[in-house]
Amino acid sequence: MSMAERHAALSRRRFLGGALAGGVALAFGPTLWRQPGYAAVPARAPHLQYGTDPRRSMVVSWSTDGPVERAVLDVGTDRGFGRVIAAESRAVRGTGTVYHHAVVDRLEPGRVYRYRPRHRGGQGAEGHFRTAPQHAERFTFTAFGDQGTSAGAAAITAQVARQHPAFHVHAGDLCYAYSAGTGEAGPVNPATWDTWLGLIAPVASQVPWMPAVGNHEMESGFGPQGYDGVLSRFSLPATGARGVPSTWGFRYGNVAVLALDGNDASFEIPHNLNWTEGAQDAWLRATLRNLRADPSIDWIVATYHHCSYCTNAVHASDGGPRQRWDGLFDDHDVDLVINGHNHCYERTHPLRRGRVSDDGTVFVTAGGGGQTAYQASLAPLSYVSLEHGKVPETAPWSATRYNDLSFLAADVDGKRLTVRALRPDGSEIERVVLQKTVLQKPASVRAAAS
Ligand SMILES: [Fe+2]
Ligand SMILES: [Fe+2]
Repeated sequence: MSMAERHAALSRRRFLGGALAGGVALAFGPTLWRQPGYAAVPARAPHLQYGTDPRRSMVVSWSTDGPVERAVLDVGTDRGFGRVIAAESRAVRGTGTVYHHAVVDRLEPGRVYRYRPRHRGGQGAEGHFRTAPQHAERFTFTAFGDQGTSAGAAAITAQVARQHPAFHVHAGDLCYAYSAGTGEAGPVNPATWDTWLGLIAPVASQVPWMPAVGNHEMESGFGPQGYDGVLSRFSLPATGARGVPSTWGFRYGNVAVLALDGNDASFEIPHNLNWTEGAQDAWLRATLRNLRADPSIDWIVATYHHCSYCTNAVHASDGGPRQRWDGLFDDHDVDLVINGHNHCYERTHPLRRGRVSDDGTVFVTAGGGGQTAYQASLAPLSYVSLEHGKVPETAPWSATRYNDLSFLAADVDGKRLTVRALRPDGSEIERVVLQKTVLQKPASVRAAAS
């Protein structure tokens, strides 16, 4: 074979390869050929999640319109990056969008890292994240649930950034792609996920966005619990109950944050009730015991979607989480519970054994994250969903109610934890100060309305 013949044969092979990959025939030679199926696809909507140890690991996630070759993440401390980490790519039924997740480990505590998603023929914008410091004394984290994709959701998300949080805790009901929210048959619009990921990206590309699952994550037709949707778009740390990827926990400084699967405990919306067959509660018990045996942990914060204590007429309180977890919270002095579900703000007095007690757990409904707010209840009695139905009850535990869009910013300062309830413009609804005593536990609580 002459040189010219070898060149012609090589050109044909390249040409055929391009045509197969992209399905488009190009009528010019090999020097101008570009792989048409991959060339113009950007990497978009990046968001962060902590890995198993926030000081040393981070997961960067992003998406592309369709599959790409060689999805990788460049990571480093300067513009030279230096590390190239292969991503895991996940497809999910009902959409052509593909979601990519790169686990970055062996990081140093308290450092800023640059990253850039990339694949054959395209790349995303450069971002950065900060690992948790070895010892964190003072920092802020934010929280809300029930976000959706409204203008209000965008306003609150922007306001979260202004709080400069180390991380954001999401109490579930993320995007409402599945409007029914019951777990039963109903339409799911996967495009809503991409709209939502685009909405949170400006903040979630820099601030780990750590979600618990809500009832709207029980997407009909997406796996036995309906979680295929959320689990294809998030790569959460495998620190939760074995076989229960909707649970996780992490430590940041002297704070431990645990996400529970409220669908496993809800009497009100029982589609996934008891699906973990006790695994979640066993993990919670063991985890709380370990945390309280660790002198470096002062504050324990638990988040799950359904409200243990809320007077809002739409969902009010759910007796399932109360029965399952109140005792564990009491036994291990859980300081703060963050719920969503009712689209409003409500805070309880500290509760122990279901009664107001200075040394108890404060329950906050933070469901004002952007989805349409629920109006205030005018009923003289609230109610609680039990296994056999809704039962009226008085609510002496209710301290503050605010029925409009809102979110939380929690300021940790050693043995003092200040929880601020904020409106979308950043103005304050109220703040509550939790203070550990010299003996560490329990915390005492002081509240100030403003
Ligand atoms: Fe909701
Ligand atoms: Fe909900």
